[in-house]
This record gives sequence, structure tokens and C-alpha cells, in this order.
Amino acid sequence: MMNDELIPAELIQILRTARRVVVSTGAGTSAESGVPTFRDAQTGLWARYKPTELATPAAFRRNPRLVWEWYAWRRELVTKAAPNPGHLALVQMQALMPELTLITQNVDGLHQRAGSQQVIELHGNLTRTKCADNGYLVDSWPPTEDVPPHCPHCGGLLRPNVVWFGESLPEETLFQARAAVRQGDLFFSIGTSSFVQPAASLPFEALDSGAKVVEINPDRTPLTAHAHFALYGKAGEILPTLVKLIWS
Ligand code: OAD
Repeated sequence: MMNDELIPAELIQILRTARRVVVSTGAGTSAESGVPTFRDAQTGLWARYKPTELATPAAFRRNPRLVWEWYAWRRELVTKAAPNPGHLALVQMQALMPELTLITQNVDGLHQRAGSQQVIELHGNLTRTKCADNGYLVDSWPPTEDVPPHCPHCGGLLRPNVVWFGESLPEETLFQARAAVRQGDLFFSIGTSSFVQPAASLPFEALDSGAKVVEINPDRTPLTAHAHFALYGKAGEILPTLVKLIWS
């Protein structure tokens, strides 16, 4: 845990009186679970590829096998990972605050595994699979040597149910996220580089609607200068400290 004195007293007061809290998380929230962020260099087998070059429809068209295998590797990594103290602190905050909506860009499902409720997944979830042609979710398919496997309904290629660069977010999901942001009085941006749209616009929409905005990140981002509070450090250290301070 971090030194309590690094948290401004004014922020603690705001946290204690907040009614509608919105938390938006990115890959940094899972970093302490051992899941590499998107801007981290990859290691091992995948070291020569950039995630931003694999998570695209063009990459899948060019080499579906490569993209499928990269996701298979990430799925395994995520399955073995466990929620960290940051995820767990958010579960406690959701239980203790009048209303807390959790929005995430992460596709790893760690918030849900930690116990967070009604998580809005902006970029989908890599444990689910859909048909690249008809878009239907597919739970299972006959055993096959084919990589990727084929859709049992139409024979199209299967792909992870995630949003890739250049694809639109599911409309209903974005609508729900924006509605929560507009009604919130306190917004947290945690562990995201704040580069990828439309997620990166959410804290600015929160600012426009008069909410206080708090950023938690060891580095500066395009949001930092605009946030009311920027807490520099790891989510897994700062969030448990906040929980302790608010309810002690
Ligand atoms: P990024 O990898 O872009 O950024 C991770 C952020 O987490 C950086 O700003 C780090 O400084 C910060 N960080 C690292 N360790 C941290 C820790 N322990 N605690 C808190 N923060 C930490 O990840 P995202 O912003 O989530 O999209 O990336 C956004 C989207 O771009 C992803 O959802 C993915 C990606 O490519 C798609 O796949 C469409």
C-alpha cells in the first residue's frame, strides 16, 4: 500500500460524499496480475509483433492463424492470471458506494472474476468467440485441426469477440457507458494511456457534465492536465489505500 499522506484530504471528502461514481479502466489495471499492457514490449514467442499490429481486421484477413494463435496465447495467460489488489479494491468500492458503474477497455474478464458487478466491456472479451462473417457468438465447435476453426453455422472463420482497431464498439455498450458518465458526479480513469477512442473521450464527457475526475496512473497521459486529481502510482497500491482511507 502507498503512503496515505499522498492522497489529498479534499479527495477523501469527495469520495465519502460521492453518489454516482463511474470507473473506467485500461490495461494498466491488469498489469499487476501479470497481463502485459498494450504499450509494453511483448516477450517470448510474440516479441517481434506489436499488439497494435495484431489486433486489427486487416491482420486477421492477412493471417487469421497468427491472430487466432496470439489470442489463444493471451487467453491462456489471462486464465492463469488472478485478480490483483486493485481489482479487489474496486469490488469493495462498488459494495460501499451508493452507485458505482465500472467500464473497462480490458478484454481479460479479471474485474468480473474479482467480483465486480455489471461490468461494461467496451472492447469485448477474449474468452468469447464469434463468427467473423455472421457475427454470431459461438460457444463450441466440432473438434478440428483448422486454425482458426470454422463457424458451425456458416463455415466462416471464428475470431475472438473483441473490438479491434478500426472497428466500431457495440452501440448499446457505448450508449450505456455514456449514460452512466453523464449522470456521474465522480469519474476515475485508471491504468489507461487515454489514447484509444472512444474510451479516451469518456473522462472529458465527465468533465463537461461537471463531475470531478481522478486519474490513477504511474505516467502522465493526455488526460492528466485536465484531471482534478492525478494520483501517480500503481492501481494495485493506490486503490486499496483509497478504500482504507474512505472507510476508516
Ligand atoms: P495501454 O497499454 O495503452 O496503457 C496502459 C496504461 O497503464 C499506461 O498509461 C501505463 O502507464 C498504465 N499502467 C501501467 N502499469 C500500471 C499500474 N500498475 N497501475 C496503473 N496504471 C498502470 O492500455 P489501454 O489504455 O487499456 O484496444 O489501451 C487501450 C486499448 O488499446 C486497449 O483496449 C486495446 C489497445 O490496443 C483494442 O484492442 C481495441
